[in-house]
Amino acid sequence: MKVDVLLGLQWGDEGKGKIVDVLTPAYDVVARFQGGPNAGHTLEFEGSKYILRSIPSGIFQGGKKNIIGNGVVIDPLLFRQEAEALAAAGHELTQRLAISKKTHLILPTHRLLDAAYEAAKGDGKIGTTGKGIGPAYADKVGRCGLRVGDILHDFDARYKAAKDRHKAILHSIGYDYGRRLEDIETEWLEALDYLKRFELIDSEHVINQYLREGKSVLAEGAQGTMLDLDFGSYPFVTSSNTVCAGCCTGLGVPPSAIGEVYGIFKAYCTRVGSGPFPTELFDEMGETLCRKGNEYGSVTGRKRRCGWIDLVALRYAIRINGVTRLIMMKSDVLDAFDLIRACVAYRIDGKETRDFPYEINDAVEPVYAELPGWKTPMGKMKSEKEFPGAFNNYISFLEDELGVPIWIISLGPDREQTIIRNENHQ
Ligand code: GDP
Ligand code: IMO
Ligand code: MG
Repeated sequence: MKVDVLLGLQWGDEGKGKIVDVLTPAYDVVARFQGGPNAGHTLEFEGSKYILRSIPSGIFQGGKKNIIGNGVVIDPLLFRQEAEALAAAGHELTQRLAISKKTHLILPTHRLLDAAYEAAKGDGKIGTTGKGIGPAYADKVGRCGLRVGDILHDFDARYKAAKDRHKAILHSIGYDYGRRLEDIETEWLEALDYLKRFELIDSEHVINQYLREGKSVLAEGAQGTMLDLDFGSYPFVTSSNTVCAGCCTGLGVPPSAIGEVYGIFKAYCTRVGSGPFPTELFDEMGETLCRKGNEYGSVTGRKRRCGWIDLVALRYAIRINGVTRLIMMKSDVLDAFDLIRACVAYRIDGKETRDFPYEINDAVEPVYAELPGWKTPMGKMKSEKEFPGAFNNYISFLEDELGVPIWIISLGPDREQTIIRNENHQ
């Protein structure tokens, strides 16, 4: 069997959690392959709402095996809080969730370093989630990170060495963290013990064995392609490879094992944190998108910047990921609009281009196509047969521009508000 990958094509928060949950019944295993608690994946069903950060979104349907892969960075304390809240809500995970021994740990001092580096950047700050993601991945690449497997032997000495190194850096840059280390360290160390209640595995062996046995795996991306360390709007990116290739390194599966690549996008576009965003709206329309789309960060509560859909960036993301099927989210947010805009090209120094440039900066001016809105509430629709003509036109326009079929349309946050198109052609 193959690993199907679901990943974000924009700047994150496309609705990955919702769709992983919807697709879970079709898979045996769901695995996260990168990112960490910077992610906030929202799921709504049967009147309940859950926001997952480190735990894969395949935990709610049918007792499937879930895995946190080696490419993830995990904060034991945040993980414990997340897992205990789920257990309290009736979702006990110790038997169903396994963690790779090669997953890197986010130390309390990584969070302090994240804050210190952001403070040092002043106006040029990235606007990180403050979860220590960048410093944890930096230690991984710098070959001085600590991994989940390390907690099984000789952890204390390694932890002290890492902590002392981080404290020296914080001291050298003059960052005053007061009592913030003492405040969380004890709980953090206790949470390490809590991790041991879960199966700690060599996930690359386990996943490849599953594939040999004919089991199907769904890999859940975090963040989005425009936040990818290599291909995103660098340096305003996260510190992992969010693209499809990240699934190979983050789970230990060969490229030949990748099956479908599901690319997920919003019918418009949002971004949280700093960095370029060519189609951003600063007017009433932007406010309307924010209000109707309830665009506030699920982890930080920060207001998300909103704008029109950017097809130049989407085409780039589709190409890099080898997307085979598209999933469009939140089109219901546009239900009442008279007119919808879609950026089809960029104008840079007077020249139009449909190709994504080396960097997107103030010189990039979006060129828009305008489409009529459908002006019909769609949230209760159950089949694509009910779609208004103008909405079908929007779908056809996007498919022509993007060159990949739109397979799923999401019409609201609830699991049930999901329409799978052309089911007979699967
Ligand atoms: P993720 O990080 O990609 O999983 O996405 P988030 O959970 O951070 O953000 C998506 C937000 O949109 C969440 O609040 C979802 O409940 C909500 N959502 C998902 N799909 C839809 C949809 O089709 N319509 C509307 N209105 N909201 C949606
Ligand atoms: P999900 O998985 C949206 C953004 C941050 C910041 C940049 C770097 O829910 O889609 P980091 O803390 O990773 O060092 O921050 O990336 N960012 C996200 N934006 N959704 C996310 O995750 C994000 N994870 C990180 O706002 O701009
Ligand atoms: Mg999110």
